[in-house]
Amino acid sequence: MSLSGQQSPQGPSPGAAGGRLPVAEFVEEPGVIDLAWGHPDPTLLPFEELAELARTTLRRFGPEALAYGAPAGPGPLIEAVVDRLGRTDSRPPGPEEICLTGGVSAALEQCAGLLAEPGQVILVEAPTYHFALRILGSHPLEICPLPFDSEGLVVEALPERLARIRASGRKVGFLYTIPTFHNPTGLTLSPERRGALVRLAEAEGLLLVEDDVYRELSFEGPAPPSLWSLAPPGRVVRLGSFAKSLAPGLRVGYLTADRSLAERFSGQPWLQSGGAPSHLPSLLVATCMAEGQYPANVHRLQAAYRQRREALLEALKAAMPEGTTWTRPAGGYFTWVTLPEGDTRKLLPAVKEAGSGYIPGTTFLPPKRPEACGPFAEQASRSFRLAWSRYSPEDLRESVRRMGGVLRG
Ligand SMILES: Cc1ncc(COP(=O)(O)O)c(C=O)c1O
Repeated sequence: MSLSGQQSPQGPSPGAAGGRLPVAEFVEEPGVIDLAWGHPDPTLLPFEELAELARTTLRRFGPEALAYGAPAGPGPLIEAVVDRLGRTDSRPPGPEEICLTGGVSAALEQCAGLLAEPGQVILVEAPTYHFALRILGSHPLEICPLPFDSEGLVVEALPERLARIRASGRKVGFLYTIPTFHNPTGLTLSPERRGALVRLAEAEGLLLVEDDVYRELSFEGPAPPSLWSLAPPGRVVRLGSFAKSLAPGLRVGYLTADRSLAERFSGQPWLQSGGAPSHLPSLLVATCMAEGQYPANVHRLQAAYRQRREALLEALKAAMPEGTTWTRPAGGYFTWVTLPEGDTRKLLPAVKEAGSGYIPGTTFLPPKRPEACGPFAEQASRSFRLAWSRYSPEDLRESVRRMGGVLRG
């Protein structure tokens, strides 16, 4: 999978350049501004603030900061999440409806084990987050793609797909969806489809796993209500994270579900044995929120990423071949670009050679190819994902200029 012999954003490779063991996933390739990476710019990480808050956290919580944590996560962060979701979503969860996690990736791994039986079907959007495909695909589950268009998941297609799966004697474990600032397209499920999806899920007895990782990175007013907030209890498990709004290295996230589902998560034996993952980082996040620094940080990130989105989309206008299209997301990290022709997998080595990079669109499709999966899946072989998160506006412009030079031929 590696594009350069080093680690790649499409999948890890062992070791680091020079034989030293790596500290972080990202490996700088000199001279390359690779827009494949959906990572934050290191200059946007609140390093000094967290260094200060780490000291405050240890002093405030004393030995309990270093103890085995409560299985559902430490109370101060659960209370802070209740408060925050009361401001950023249309309904706050009760504290008993929350289980803290080690981030969305870890939570999704738990969902695959807890919410589906071996052999069951997991429904996903086509395209969808490529690492979600790998996490789910590492379990004995069958991944089935659903159509996706410019309004998000094509909810109207669901009843027929469900009927077909059930008629063949298979059962559906859950539907994994990213309705808000989707990865890889950046698009957001329309309000009408949100309502239709939760009504359909209730009528069909379908469980939804909602990946809500980009909720805080909304550039044009508040993010839309989560599926979790709209649905009757027990229908949705929503996965949130502080990876995008604070720092990914903290490995702190949360899920909201109804009480009995949340208890299934916190009741897992490994949590009863070792306590919640990321206990100390969770207390650090709680301190950051209690001290009022968290909203200011989110505000700063929204402004920075909004500016980067503008820089990237403007640069595309000037550099891409005629007939190229791209999405204009209202939040998150990514845009999805579609060329009028060409194979973006085959074009990638030349783009890398020119000092730029992207992830080819087909990386985001499940291995079992869909019939009728909508425009994004159909055009995936001439599409790619770009991230504006990692680089400054100047670097984004330069990277797109280099890429355009190759793609225009
Ligand atoms: C859609 C989506 N889900 C989950 C993740 C990972 O979340 P976390 O860092 O909380 O594990 C990402 C990060 O790129 C993502 O884009």
